[in-house]
Amino acid sequence: MPSQQPFFQSRFQKAEVDSVLWQEREGTLTERPNQRTFAFLKPDTVKNRLVGEVLSRLEQKGFTFKELRLHQITHKEAESLYSVHKGKPFFQELVDHVTSGPVVLIVLQGPNAVETLRKVIGATNPLTAEPGTIRGDLSVSITANVIHASDSAENAKKESAIFSLDTS
Ligand code: CMP
Repeated sequence: MPSQQPFFQSRFQKAEVDSVLWQEREGTLTERPNQRTFAFLKPDTVKNRLVGEVLSRLEQKGFTFKELRLHQITHKEAESLYSVHKGKPFFQELVDHVTSGPVVLIVLQGPNAVETLRKVIGATNPLTAEPGTIRGDLSVSITANVIHASDSAENAKKESAIFSLDTS
Protein backbone atom coordinates (compact mmCIF):
# COMPACT_ATOMS: atom_id res chain seq x y z
CA MET A 1 0.00 0.00 0.00
CA PRO A 2 1.38 3.46 -0.81
CA SER A 3 1.89 5.51 2.31
CA GLN A 4 0.07 8.77 3.06
CA GLN A 5 3.41 10.61 2.99
CA PRO A 6 2.31 13.34 0.49
CA PHE A 7 -0.35 14.50 2.93
CA PHE A 8 2.17 14.95 5.75
CA GLN A 9 4.64 16.57 3.36
CA SER A 10 2.12 19.16 2.26
CA ARG A 11 1.17 19.90 5.88
CA PHE A 12 4.84 20.38 6.69
CA GLN A 13 5.34 22.69 3.71
CA LYS A 14 2.31 24.73 4.72
CA ALA A 15 3.78 25.16 8.21
CA GLU A 16 6.97 26.57 6.67
CA VAL A 17 5.07 29.08 4.54
CA ASP A 18 2.95 30.08 7.53
CA SER A 19 6.02 30.82 9.58
CA VAL A 20 7.24 33.22 6.89
CA LEU A 21 3.85 34.93 6.80
CA TRP A 22 3.85 35.08 10.59
CA GLN A 23 7.19 36.90 10.60
CA GLU A 24 5.89 39.38 8.01
CA ARG A 25 2.75 39.95 10.06
CA GLU A 26 4.71 40.56 13.23
CA GLY A 27 7.03 42.95 11.40
CA THR A 28 4.28 45.05 9.88
CA LEU A 29 2.22 45.15 13.08
CA THR A 30 5.07 46.20 15.33
CA GLU A 31 6.42 48.73 12.82
CA ARG A 32 3.36 51.02 12.90
CA PRO A 33 1.01 49.80 15.68
CA ASN A 34 -0.55 53.25 16.31
CA GLN A 35 -0.25 55.05 13.00
CA ARG A 36 -2.51 58.04 12.34
CA THR A 37 -3.96 59.06 9.01
CA PHE A 38 -6.31 61.65 7.54
CA ALA A 39 -9.64 61.18 5.78
CA PHE A 40 -12.79 63.12 5.10
CA LEU A 41 -16.34 62.11 4.25
CA LYS A 42 -17.37 63.95 1.08
CA PRO A 43 -20.51 66.12 0.77
CA ASP A 44 -22.41 63.29 -0.98
CA THR A 45 -22.03 61.18 2.17
CA VAL A 46 -23.52 63.90 4.37
CA LYS A 47 -26.35 64.59 1.86
CA ASN A 48 -27.14 60.88 1.47
CA ARG A 49 -27.22 60.36 5.27
CA LEU A 50 -24.41 57.81 5.13
CA VAL A 51 -22.17 59.39 7.78
CA GLY A 52 -23.27 56.92 10.47
CA GLU A 53 -22.86 53.94 8.13
CA VAL A 54 -19.31 54.91 7.11
CA LEU A 55 -18.17 55.83 10.63
CA SER A 56 -19.62 52.55 11.88
CA ARG A 57 -17.64 50.58 9.29
CA LEU A 58 -14.45 52.38 10.31
CA GLU A 59 -15.12 51.65 13.99
CA GLN A 60 -15.91 48.01 13.23
CA LYS A 61 -12.59 47.70 11.44
CA GLY A 62 -10.93 48.83 14.67
CA PHE A 63 -9.91 52.41 13.97
CA THR A 64 -9.98 54.97 16.78
CA PHE A 65 -11.15 58.48 15.92
CA LYS A 66 -8.69 61.04 17.26
CA GLU A 67 -10.48 64.00 15.61
CA LEU A 68 -13.95 64.24 14.07
CA ARG A 69 -15.26 67.57 12.81
CA LEU A 70 -17.99 68.87 10.49
CA HIS A 71 -16.46 71.44 8.15
CA GLN A 72 -17.30 73.48 5.04
CA ILE A 73 -14.27 73.24 2.74
CA THR A 74 -13.32 76.55 1.07
CA HIS A 75 -12.15 76.81 -2.56
CA LYS A 76 -8.67 77.67 -1.32
CA GLU A 77 -8.52 74.57 0.91
CA ALA A 78 -9.87 72.34 -1.89
CA GLU A 79 -7.31 73.61 -4.40
CA SER A 80 -4.53 73.04 -1.91
CA LEU A 81 -5.80 69.57 -0.95
CA TYR A 82 -6.04 68.47 -4.57
CA SER A 83 -3.13 70.53 -5.99
CA VAL A 84 -1.58 67.35 -7.44
CA HIS A 85 -4.62 67.05 -9.75
CA LYS A 86 -4.54 70.68 -10.97
CA GLY A 87 -4.82 70.77 -14.77
CA LYS A 88 -6.52 67.37 -15.02
CA PRO A 89 -9.93 67.29 -16.72
CA PHE A 90 -11.75 66.31 -13.51
CA PHE A 91 -10.13 68.97 -11.27
CA GLN A 92 -12.87 71.63 -11.42
CA GLU A 93 -15.67 69.11 -10.92
CA LEU A 94 -13.80 67.70 -7.92
CA VAL A 95 -13.28 71.13 -6.33
CA ASP A 96 -16.93 72.03 -7.00
CA HIS A 97 -18.07 68.81 -5.36
CA VAL A 98 -15.99 68.94 -2.19
CA THR A 99 -17.01 72.58 -1.62
CA SER A 100 -20.72 71.91 -2.33
CA GLY A 101 -21.67 71.17 1.29
CA PRO A 102 -20.30 70.12 4.66
CA VAL A 103 -17.77 67.32 4.97
CA VAL A 104 -16.61 65.33 8.00
CA LEU A 105 -12.89 65.67 8.70
CA ILE A 106 -11.34 62.68 10.48
CA VAL A 107 -7.99 61.76 12.01
CA LEU A 108 -7.95 57.99 12.58
CA GLN A 109 -5.53 55.80 14.44
CA GLY A 110 -4.79 52.08 14.16
CA PRO A 111 -2.16 49.54 13.07
CA ASN A 112 -0.82 50.50 9.63
CA ALA A 113 -3.65 53.01 9.39
CA VAL A 114 -2.69 54.56 6.02
CA GLU A 115 -2.61 51.26 4.14
CA THR A 116 -5.45 49.62 6.05
CA LEU A 117 -7.83 52.54 5.48
CA ARG A 118 -7.06 52.64 1.74
CA LYS A 119 -7.97 48.93 1.55
CA VAL A 120 -11.19 49.44 3.52
CA ILE A 121 -12.38 52.31 1.31
CA GLY A 122 -11.59 50.54 -1.99
CA ALA A 123 -10.66 51.77 -5.45
CA THR A 124 -11.38 55.36 -6.56
CA ASN A 125 -13.62 54.29 -9.44
CA PRO A 126 -16.88 52.70 -8.23
CA LEU A 127 -16.78 50.42 -11.28
CA THR A 128 -13.60 48.76 -10.01
CA ALA A 129 -14.10 49.14 -6.24
CA GLU A 130 -14.66 45.66 -4.80
CA PRO A 131 -17.95 44.81 -3.08
CA GLY A 132 -17.37 44.90 0.67
CA THR A 133 -15.30 48.06 0.44
CA ILE A 134 -16.90 51.40 1.39
CA ARG A 135 -16.80 52.75 -2.17
CA GLY A 136 -17.68 49.37 -3.67
CA ASP A 137 -20.84 49.23 -1.59
CA LEU A 138 -21.88 52.88 -1.30
CA SER A 139 -20.79 54.85 -4.38
CA VAL A 140 -21.74 55.10 -8.05
CA SER A 141 -19.76 58.22 -8.95
CA ILE A 142 -15.98 58.65 -9.30
CA THR A 143 -16.19 62.24 -7.99
CA ALA A 144 -18.87 61.75 -5.32
CA ASN A 145 -17.16 58.62 -4.05
CA VAL A 146 -18.02 58.86 -0.34
CA ILE A 147 -14.60 59.31 1.26
CA HIS A 148 -11.10 60.57 0.62
CA ALA A 149 -8.13 59.04 2.46
CA SER A 150 -4.48 60.09 2.31
CA ASP A 151 -2.27 57.73 0.30
CA SER A 152 0.87 58.06 2.48
CA ALA A 153 1.90 59.19 5.96
CA GLU A 154 3.60 62.19 4.41
CA ASN A 155 0.44 63.24 2.56
CA ALA A 156 -1.67 62.61 5.67
CA LYS A 157 0.49 65.15 7.51
CA LYS A 158 0.25 67.69 4.65
CA GLU A 159 -3.48 67.23 4.02
CA SER A 160 -4.51 67.31 7.70
CA ALA A 161 -2.44 70.49 8.22
CA ILE A 162 -4.65 72.30 5.66
CA PHE A 163 -7.44 71.94 8.25
CA SER A 164 -5.19 72.63 11.27
CA LEU A 165 -5.18 68.94 12.18
CA ASP A 166 -2.20 66.77 13.02
CA THR A 167 -1.51 63.09 12.22
CA SER A 168 1.95 62.84 13.81
P1 CMP B 1 -10.02 61.14 -3.92
O1 CMP B 1 -9.59 59.98 -3.13
O2 CMP B 1 -10.72 62.24 -3.21
O3 CMP B 1 -8.74 61.74 -4.67
C1 CMP B 1 -8.83 62.48 -5.87
C2 CMP B 1 -10.21 62.48 -6.42
O4 CMP B 1 -10.37 62.85 -7.76
C3 CMP B 1 -10.74 61.06 -6.38
O5 CMP B 1 -10.99 60.65 -5.07
C4 CMP B 1 -12.00 61.19 -7.25
O6 CMP B 1 -13.13 61.57 -6.52
C5 CMP B 1 -11.64 62.34 -8.19
N1 CMP B 1 -11.60 61.92 -9.58
C6 CMP B 1 -12.49 62.26 -10.52
N2 CMP B 1 -12.17 61.73 -11.69
C7 CMP B 1 -11.04 61.03 -11.51
C8 CMP B 1 -10.22 60.23 -12.37
N3 CMP B 1 -10.51 60.05 -13.66
N4 CMP B 1 -9.16 59.64 -11.82
C9 CMP B 1 -8.84 59.81 -10.51
N5 CMP B 1 -9.59 60.56 -9.65
C10 CMP B 1 -10.68 61.14 -10.15
